[in-house]
Amino acid sequence: MAPVTNARHIFREIPQDSHMLTPNLSGAPVPGKDLVHDTSETIDLDNVPLKGGILAKALVLSIDPYVRSRLREQHIKGYVPAFKLGQPIWNIGIVKVIRSEHPDYKAGDYLYIWDVPFADYTVFTEIPPRTTKLESNKGIPWSAWLGVLGMPGQTAYMAWKEYSRAKKGETVFVTAASGPIGSVVVQLAKLDGCKVIASAGSDAKCDDVRALGADVVFNYKTESTKEILQREGPLDVYWDNVGGESLDEALLAMREHGRILQCGTISNYNDPNAYGLKNYSMFFQKELQMFGFLVFTLYPKYIDRFLADMVPLVKEGKIKHREDVTKGLEHSCQALVDVLSGKNHGKKVILVAED
Ligand SMILES: NC(=O)c1ccc[n+]([C@@H]2O[C@H](COP(=O)([O-])OP(=O)(O)OC[C@H]3O[C@@H](n4cnc5c(N)ncnc54)[C@H](OP(=O)(O)O)[C@@H]3O)[C@@H](O)[C@H]2O)c1
Repeated sequence: MAPVTNARHIFREIPQDSHMLTPNLSGAPVPGKDLVHDTSETIDLDNVPLKGGILAKALVLSIDPYVRSRLREQHIKGYVPAFKLGQPIWNIGIVKVIRSEHPDYKAGDYLYIWDVPFADYTVFTEIPPRTTKLESNKGIPWSAWLGVLGMPGQTAYMAWKEYSRAKKGETVFVTAASGPIGSVVVQLAKLDGCKVIASAGSDAKCDDVRALGADVVFNYKTESTKEILQREGPLDVYWDNVGGESLDEALLAMREHGRILQCGTISNYNDPNAYGLKNYSMFFQKELQMFGFLVFTLYPKYIDRFLADMVPLVKEGKIKHREDVTKGLEHSCQALVDVLSGKNHGKKVILVAED
């Protein structure tokens, strides 16, 4: 077969003001400027050297908020490495093996890989850590393996089991509750018999969260988080996806000895003037505990339990999920901007190619 185009989504420029030595990166990336779609390369699928590795075709790629933090200068330290200028961005994806020289993989295998370049095709001369062969999709769409059954679902499940210590009848507050992490936390908390208060950024998202079984749902853009938490609390557990003002209000509403699960701070990922906490003293006054965590660390301990518990729950519809599919690799940057500004409605994935 003649060589074919290998389209790639390239990190061309660092978004404005990201040179600051701070984790709070200013300015969302601009499609066509900071990230550009490049179709200048071709690949010979039959003959490209594999050097003992595999040739893979990207099927579905994940867009997650943390991708923003990788669009920075190389020398700025972070919990994940910076992307390289001039190279495709990377993230979690489902790929199909086209050719293989690797003893563990064969053509036709489907793989969940944590670091897939945003390109139509990639030669992996080395297999990235935590690569999982998906024996079959078990009747669940591949894209769901990036959301409810992928990294976000794993984050929700693993940290909930490790840190929440939630008991029946306790009250839990969840922010960004319609997203892939928040929506799983809402459902796990309900399965544990908790009262769930949940917030989201639009009325349509709030309807979704209500359908998941949350007891009190509000749009934090049009209703007062403070009033609702004061009325519906006190909180035993706060699952914090956003940081900032919501965390501050939650601190005031926590019950003594409450637990805060600090999952992310998306309210300030593009904001150099991050909101400063005013209610910090609640930690000692109420003897609160706060747990920061990264899914990578919890993964080895929980992955088997996660799959054993969650695959049947998802298959039977006992854990629900919603996807927001963007078709075409060329829209990846806009998809990231949409997630960072709350325009996604469900787990954002890029459908690169049909199987
Ligand atoms: N600790 C870990 O290992 C780990 C792993 C993965 C993700 N995370 C973090 O978990 C959080 C949720 O991730 P996800 O994948 O489930 O995201 P997501 O819900 O798909 O997308 C992010 C959502 O955050 C909300 N948001 C955006 N700007 C906001 C703001 N200024 N204030 C409040 N909410 C805002 C938006 O929803 P609304 O429209 O409802 O505002 C947006 O849809 C993020 O902070 C992410 O970085 C942590």
